[in-house]
Amino acid sequence: MTRVLILGANGQVARHATACFLENTDVDLTLYLRHTSRLKNPDPKRATIVEGNVLDRAALIDAMKGQDVVFASLAGEMAEQAQKIVAAMKEASLKRLIFISSMGIYGEVPGEKYRSVLDPYRDSAAIIEASSLDYTILRPGWFTNNPKVSYQITQKGEPFHGHDISLNSLSDLIVKLALDPTLHVRSSIGVSQ
Ligand SMILES: NC(=O)c1ccc[n+]([C@@H]2O[C@H](COP(=O)([O-])OP(=O)(O)OC[C@H]3O[C@@H](n4cnc5c(N)ncnc54)[C@H](OP(=O)(O)O)[C@@H]3O)[C@@H](O)[C@H]2O)c1
Repeated sequence: MTRVLILGANGQVARHATACFLENTDVDLTLYLRHTSRLKNPDPKRATIVEGNVLDRAALIDAMKGQDVVFASLAGEMAEQAQKIVAAMKEASLKRLIFISSMGIYGEVPGEKYRSVLDPYRDSAAIIEASSLDYTILRPGWFTNNPKVSYQITQKGEPFHGHDISLNSLSDLIVKLALDPTLHVRSSIGVSQ
């Protein structure tokens, strides 16, 4: 049975992916978030809620014990968060990390320059890429509620195609990545509809 630790579990993408994991797989989830009072446990038989800040080293390492996959969907001080996650995963002997970033961090979107607003995304991706983890960095386009599941993937170094990505599509990919330890390993991939 795969065990997935979701960091930033009360965020939009994390909640959407949580529902997708519960509906389509038999994985067990640990939902890690800063304020547990904000989140109702969606399935107490398969999900455990843990209160913690990603910047809290001890709490993070503790939550990583016994997990197979770490899925991080965060915002804010992302470089510091990435450093803490990489260090804690090393200490907990975990390898598989799925990390939500953003399109545009390498200047790969034709005709768009996002500059400093993407610095935390760019810096956190660089920290993860320099690690020895089995990471997949996801660079999604703008989120939509389009129910359709369809996406195209671009590799680092290729121009980004499209602009939007439905949350359904993004969650579908996150679940596939969590279940297949070899899928897009050590890759930073652009994802759009
Ligand atoms: N919107 C778009 O179209 C789009 C497109 C591409 C990429 N993105 C990026 O994708 C990421 C996920 O998006 P989203 O909509 O799910 O964002 P979100 O709803 O803002 O979720 C981010 C989560 O990160 C948590 N967090 C921040 N710092 C933390 C810390 N130190 N410890 C623990 N948790 C922490 C927040 O927790 P609290 O609830 O405690 O604040 C929040 O729940 C974001 O970085 C977003 O900018 C968005």
